[in-house]
Amino acid sequence: MGQKRNPSLPTTSAGASAGRAFVRGGRGVLRGKQVKKTFNSIKITVLCGFMTIIVLRGTIGIGNLRSSEADAISNWDTDRQNWLEGNPEFPCHVNGKPRVLLLTGSQPNPCDNPIGDHYLLKAIKNKIDYCRIHGIEIVYTMAHLDKELAGYWGKVPMIRRVMLSHPEAEWIWWMDSDALFTDMVFEIPLSKYSNHNLAIHGYPDLLFDEKSWIALNARSFLIRNCQWSLDLLDGWVTMGPKGPLREEGGKILSANLMGRPDFDADDQSALIYLLISQRDKWLDKVFIENSYYLHGYWVGLVDRYEEMIEKYHPGLGDERWPLVTHFVGCKPCGKYGDYPMERCLRSMERAFNFADNQVLKLYGFGHRSLLSPKIKRVRNETDTPLEYVDKFDIRRASF
Ligand SMILES: *[C@@H]1O[C@H](CO)[C@@H](O)[C@H](O)[C@H]1NC(C)=O
Repeated sequence: MGQKRNPSLPTTSAGASAGRAFVRGGRGVLRGKQVKKTFNSIKITVLCGFMTIIVLRGTIGIGNLRSSEADAISNWDTDRQNWLEGNPEFPCHVNGKPRVLLLTGSQPNPCDNPIGDHYLLKAIKNKIDYCRIHGIEIVYTMAHLDKELAGYWGKVPMIRRVMLSHPEAEWIWWMDSDALFTDMVFEIPLSKYSNHNLAIHGYPDLLFDEKSWIALNARSFLIRNCQWSLDLLDGWVTMGPKGPLREEGGKILSANLMGRPDFDADDQSALIYLLISQRDKWLDKVFIENSYYLHGYWVGLVDRYEEMIEKYHPGLGDERWPLVTHFVGCKPCGKYGDYPMERCLRSMERAFNFADNQVLKLYGFGHRSLLSPKIKRVRNETDTPLEYVDKFDIRRASF
């Protein structure tokens, strides 16, 4: 929500090059030892400053996810369980599968560039398609719940609010507005996460050995509706509020995370830092996923769609046919992206049509090319249409 307007993380060119290094094998991130040394020496100073702020924050009560201390929730698991038992018409499992709610959104105002609104529309149409096919509900938010937590931090209070307001949702799947589903068939292997509360794309070696600021991607992840998650969100958001907390937090993050340029605390770095610094508290419930693209960096994917079509088929979800193509560093709704706008829009159009072809197939149509919004007939009508339903309805193929 609102991340389109936020000039930080994905718009810094350092962020983009780190992202590129990340995708190309993950080990190309510059070490920056010199910089790190300097940071280490000021780290203690910064840390002391930060502790003071934390104490201050506790005293004056800013930056809480809760509107007051009275809102503190400590027995959500029991309360939610009781509610579920009292409301059997809202089960948290449907047809033996956990109920998933996809949460996404965009800024409340028009885009700076009108074409940005067109791509936001395509992006939500794409998500509606995936979710309809897979029986996932969508909440699209355009509200800033907390003015202290604007920009990419806005997702944190929103996730919390959605958990508490949709006790029937077992998993909340956050996805940024600039991420598109590109594998309409692949289904999230939720049973893999039955003992976990957070499933997030990333690389354990980058996280633990390198403490890289891009070890995890916080733009598309699944979080279970439970007390553990509420506690995680509370811990996560401490560096979020605008002003000194976010500024000082940024210094701590840059001092501790490999490759991170110096800028205000962002949600992704803060999550990585929280998981590393309180490893024992959180980690056994975190599933670091990289067997498929819960998040897939667009550069290196969008130019390979033709090759994928030739060699593979939807349903794989990984580099052969990515579940998600995410336009990190493109700012079609804002003004300042890391990449030329034309390249971004062209690539988003390709990703959208690549996905849309998988949807249109059921109806007997397809795009004339990956760059064309126009469609063509791919098969003639017959007097036995149900054959095609059996053959092409993804819901039947994948379930
Ligand atoms: C539909 O039928 C027409 C006439 O038989 C044929 O020329 C055309 O190639 C067919 N189109 C497709 C997509 O099969």
